Amino acid sequence: MRAKKITPIVDLSGDTSEAFCTGQNDPALVSRLQNQISEKGFVYVRPSSATFASIEELRRYSLSFFLQPTRLKRKVSLRPGAYRGWTPSGVETADGRRQPDIKEILSFGNGGKNEAGWYAKNRFPEGLPEIERSVGECLENLSRTMDDISEVLASAFPEPFGHASDLFREPLDILNINYYQPSKGPSSPTMNVGSHKDFGFMTLISPMPGGSSGLQLSIAGRWRNVNLPAGTLLLVFGELAEAWTQSIIHAPVHRVNGFGASLDRVSLVYFRSPNPAQVIPTSRRSRTVGEFLLDRLRSVRADRRPRLDANVRN
Ligand SMILES: [Fe+2]
Repeated sequence: MRAKKITPIVDLSGDTSEAFCTGQNDPALVSRLQNQISEKGFVYVRPSSATFASIEELRRYSLSFFLQPTRLKRKVSLRPGAYRGWTPSGVETADGRRQPDIKEILSFGNGGKNEAGWYAKNRFPEGLPEIERSVGECLENLSRTMDDISEVLASAFPEPFGHASDLFREPLDILNINYYQPSKGPSSPTMNVGSHKDFGFMTLISPMPGGSSGLQLSIAGRWRNVNLPAGTLLLVFGELAEAWTQSIIHAPVHRVNGFGASLDRVSLVYFRSPNPAQVIPTSRRSRTVGEFLLDRLRSVRADRRPRLDANVRN
């Protein structure tokens, strides 16, 4: 039946016309959500209109940063020991290929008591004051959105989301703003981000709107373009969620294939994981979230060897 193929939308907008929202307890809907996340590992999310507007605003401001000369962007370069700042194209390789990903990244995060390592102080580009305010608003909105998503998911996955306030106490939230340059010609590479699973717990993605973001999900062995309904974001689960739930939750493989896109593209990607000091309950040898993430981070950032593990909060 066609209806079963429609991707569920977790609705946080206050518009109750969509089924999956806080407080819903219809067993048939709960079962649809369970199946979708166990089999495909992604759902759509309709955030509040204010959250959606703040994302679009930050996308615009960020483009003005990325279009600056490299010497200006270097002033906020990401440095080993702190996951904050600008990463030039060619540093990451999501699938371990020799050909690196063709994307620039500007990384921010929510601060903490220990302003080092995963929780380092944000670094804002000079001369673009609107970015600082916009990032602050977006971080706040996206953090709240993740809290609300966890509440909705508790009906379908009492483990682990029934304890979301413990699971995500002082969570590790990172906002990456990705920039993909227009293609340099028909013979230039098009793979902006190679195929991979995210390595955190869950990720909210706002790809460039307009149907040409290049974001693709692997579903049943076939690449599918992501075409989000208007006003929605994509939520995907990552390897940490798979490990945490012993694969009850699925982490989907995805990639960004520019297909020689002729326009600048900016996507916002918000990662949420438990606090780096938390121990993964299902891990055979005692392993913290921070150790898990650092291990995976090293695999995609071979040249930087970031040392963040000594700096997590307890
Ligand atoms: Fe990803």
